[in-house]
Amino acid sequence: MCGIVGYIGENNANDVLLTGLKKLEYRGYDSCGIATIYNDKFQIHKTTNRIDSLVSCIQDTEKSNIGLGHTRWATHGGVCEKNAHPHTDNKDKFVVVHNGIIENYIELKELLKDKGYEFYSDTDTEVIPNLIDLNYDGNLLEATKKTVDMLEGSYALGIMKKDNPNEIIATRKNSPLVIGVGENENFIASDYSAILKYTNKIGILENDEFAVLKKDEVSFYDKDLNKKDVAIKNIDTKDFDVEKNGYEHFMLKEINENSITAKKTLDTYLINGKLKFDINLSDEEIKNIKHIHIVACGTAMHAGLNGKYIIEKFTRIPVNVEVASEFRYKNPILDKDDFVIFISQSGETADTIACLQLVKDRNIKHMSMVNVKESTIDRMSDNVIYTKAGAEIAVASTKAYIAQVILIDLFGIYLAQKRGLYDDEELNNILRSLIEIPNKIQEVLEEDKEYIDYANKISNKRDVFYLGRGLDYYVALEGSLKLKEISYIHSEATQFGELKHGPIALIEDDTPAIVMATSKNLLDKTISNIKEIKARGANVLVLTTLKDFPSNVADKIILLPEVNENLSPLLTMIPLQLIAYHVTVNKGLDVDKPRNLAKSVTVE
Ligand code: G6P
Repeated sequence: MCGIVGYIGENNANDVLLTGLKKLEYRGYDSCGIATIYNDKFQIHKTTNRIDSLVSCIQDTEKSNIGLGHTRWATHGGVCEKNAHPHTDNKDKFVVVHNGIIENYIELKELLKDKGYEFYSDTDTEVIPNLIDLNYDGNLLEATKKTVDMLEGSYALGIMKKDNPNEIIATRKNSPLVIGVGENENFIASDYSAILKYTNKIGILENDEFAVLKKDEVSFYDKDLNKKDVAIKNIDTKDFDVEKNGYEHFMLKEINENSITAKKTLDTYLINGKLKFDINLSDEEIKNIKHIHIVACGTAMHAGLNGKYIIEKFTRIPVNVEVASEFRYKNPILDKDDFVIFISQSGETADTIACLQLVKDRNIKHMSMVNVKESTIDRMSDNVIYTKAGAEIAVASTKAYIAQVILIDLFGIYLAQKRGLYDDEELNNILRSLIEIPNKIQEVLEEDKEYIDYANKISNKRDVFYLGRGLDYYVALEGSLKLKEISYIHSEATQFGELKHGPIALIEDDTPAIVMATSKNLLDKTISNIKEIKARGANVLVLTTLKDFPSNVADKIILLPEVNENLSPLLTMIPLQLIAYHVTVNKGLDVDKPRNLAKSVTVE
């Protein structure tokens, strides 16, 4: 959600900024822009089209060695060039790119209007360059500090002054920003994927800190502008593949990486049949846990539901799975013996971060599962374990979900082993089955022809139902989310037993219904439910791992490899991801960058 990239060095800033912005495209945006400095003048270009179209806009600009680029995901004001960043002050002296939301911008606008400033956009951001102008007294860093002291809300900022092509100022609060350190060149970026092509030496700017970038040095300052040392870390780029590698879309590539992702995550924590988590939680503390809370958003929350299933079943600890945007505002009931698990692919989701802060403030034991190392959640959490999905670029999360489910399953079994309530042999059976999962995922992936055929049948439908009981319902939720977020077909997930309490009214002739049926115990119930919807005209696809699933109850049955029932989501989810993908391709939509959505939701 919004992206910043900034450059100062010896190369052509436009090239670096465009490359960086392309890498940030995956976060989601609806307009973009670039500012460079030449001969004490800003050269600013903006567009509501894709980043590629900036290339022609900047063809005639003079080469510059300093610049800021931005991708905007509209919050305040519609999608149009005047609202796109970078923004300048009235006198055109300062230019700013901003991620985040300034909550008191109306008040600040009034203050500035009283002093004669005028506004040309509908954004909250436009107050910032004007405040800098108001506060400027010969020192840009000090003016920036005075300005951010007046701001309420969240921000990551890159700032330049027209007549000083030797300096970029960066600062942030509750919105990510990293500093890249190179040889005679330095960078700022919302996340390091934007600049890894140029440097893997990264300094992390913490909340309220400032950085002053010159071509050959970066200075860091704390909130009171005292100089401070910041460790520059080498980011391991080994797993950071951000190319399509021959696939038509990132989403397809990432779905096809499910098997390797599963293997990497398993290999990291399950070593010679033994689970190993390097966390600060004693056996005694594990035995004393009263409640577990899993807090996350979107797909990560759906992975958390799988965790609830496994943890409750094998540890008998009650698990509350909560959407972060709800948890943060409900004054959650947290006991000193509770344990909170945060799940986040990006590690930058604003609501999840706010919940983590709340839990830290209350001194409650917690752990986070993240995919992106050095992300905010990674750095803030007392304990962190990592999904090994590598870079996930498509907005719709696929391989990260599989890694999250595996990791929460492993952690649930770890807790169960420590609590010692459950038969060890059954837990070991699940671990053995987990080891077979990567190969089974691969088998499921290889049946793509089946999913393409089915996608062809439903691509022009208005509504699709996803149905299941128990774990199958959690998969239904995620399958339904996949379809609606990228194909824009309305879809709805319902617990199969609950269908007759309302949603069945929507089933009519030829309504597609995708049923997950992986539980032997619930097989009869599921079959009865299928008959109920068939009687009302539904066209039913069943995804099952049960060899003896009767062949005559549905319109189509896809038999997946047999698997330990506790792990079935790791297989049933794969066809659902591929069906959503193929439907979207059939509709000619932008698979990797669906409308209105962002990969990294860094504002509330
Ligand atoms: C956005 C993304 C989803 C993701 C959710 C939570 O909505 O589009 O794919 O599941 O945020 O993100 P996180 O990075 O915290 O897992």
